[in-house]
Amino acid sequence: MTTVLSLDDVRLTGRTVLYRVDVNSPLEPSTGAFLDDSRLRSILETLEGLSDAKVVIMGHQSRPGKDDFTGMEGHCDRLSRLLGQQIRFVADVCGDDAIDAIEEMQPGEKIFLDNVRLHSEEYGPEKVSFEAEPTSEIVTRLSAVADVYVSDAFGAAHRNSPSLTGFAEEMPCIAGRLMNREIRALGLAVDDPPRPYVAILGGAKCDDSLRVALNLIERGVVDCIPMVGVVGNLMLWASGHDIGERNKEFIRSTMGEAFDETWQMAQQLANDHSKMLFLPSDLAVEIDGKRHPIGVDELPTEHSIYDIGFQTLMELRPLMLDAKCILWNGPASFFEYPEFAIGTIEILNMCAEATGVTIVGGGHTSALVNQRGLSREISHNSTGGGSVLGMLSGEPMPVIDALARSNDKYRPLLGALELESID
Ligand code: 3PG
Ligand code: MG
Repeated sequence: MTTVLSLDDVRLTGRTVLYRVDVNSPLEPSTGAFLDDSRLRSILETLEGLSDAKVVIMGHQSRPGKDDFTGMEGHCDRLSRLLGQQIRFVADVCGDDAIDAIEEMQPGEKIFLDNVRLHSEEYGPEKVSFEAEPTSEIVTRLSAVADVYVSDAFGAAHRNSPSLTGFAEEMPCIAGRLMNREIRALGLAVDDPPRPYVAILGGAKCDDSLRVALNLIERGVVDCIPMVGVVGNLMLWASGHDIGERNKEFIRSTMGEAFDETWQMAQQLANDHSKMLFLPSDLAVEIDGKRHPIGVDELPTEHSIYDIGFQTLMELRPLMLDAKCILWNGPASFFEYPEFAIGTIEILNMCAEATGVTIVGGGHTSALVNQRGLSREISHNSTGGGSVLGMLSGEPMPVIDALARSNDKYRPLLGALELESID
């Protein structure tokens, strides 16, 4: 398992801390209001732990050119309210206003810098290369006025940019409380899960889900992979069931250019690993807005498949209740329509009821856990999206690698830097 510096390794009283977070959030397009503030809530624990440091918060919202690409003032206001402490917003990333504001800070104060993606080094055609990050303006200017860097940007851990990975060798880079929990939980899901381990994969990101399945099988860590949602439909098709032209076309158009590669992975799984898979035995299709049950043996259908069926849920239940570890990523159904929410909600309820370790992997499924007030029943509800799928597929995670490099370089030096914990 990756070793990183944590907040238990250092004492940061009075220190200037650059704190990179991922609070990229869904915003209401016309008003900019937060539709979900769970990523802001997820960093409160680290902020509370840094209460006697000078904390400079850096983050991004969306991408240049998108409707929800905004500054961070709204995030700063919302976070101030959640934390119960006024955080000062500074409309600058690393220019003189940012540097002056940092130099004026007193211990216990916090400032929130503007959207780092307003700086061309971070995103777009002028983004600096990975190799050039340590000499970027963002890294050189900010590292000159700070002592340490703390990262809780797990949601962006599959990316690299100066603000995410450029500080690794300039100063000690430390995993925040959230980052630590994410690395531990997802590391467990991919490296060393208690067995039996059931990994439920759903949603419409079929290529990512199939990469996760192949990686878990290759590592020999998983016992059963239930496939539900669109990825379940794809696997039924690849296993020889005719899911009907409408459903095939939906998968082809959703996958676009990635279809051929995805189909190859689906066939590999169906041909070589079918014993490891659990596929739906019944489904629900949509006819005039209403739910209609259909057995897999009644396929093909001319209607859209929008949910798994009750028989499938009954078969899934003992698997989930016997599991010592459950991973769930991606909905089982078109749950935005109440008629078709049952499959997804029932899987969520079974995760809550399960006694094993339960890890919910980001995106829609994590939002649902929060909306239904079940976060306490789940061992780990990830704040990641693409980063969860990247980590579970065994892809490189530049942000975690940077923390590990910084650990190797700075752990032996902590005493000399007077950062070592006294307890
Ligand atoms: C996310 O929400 O997925 C992260 O903040 C990363 O955002 P990005 O996909 O725009 O890099
Ligand atoms: Mg539980």
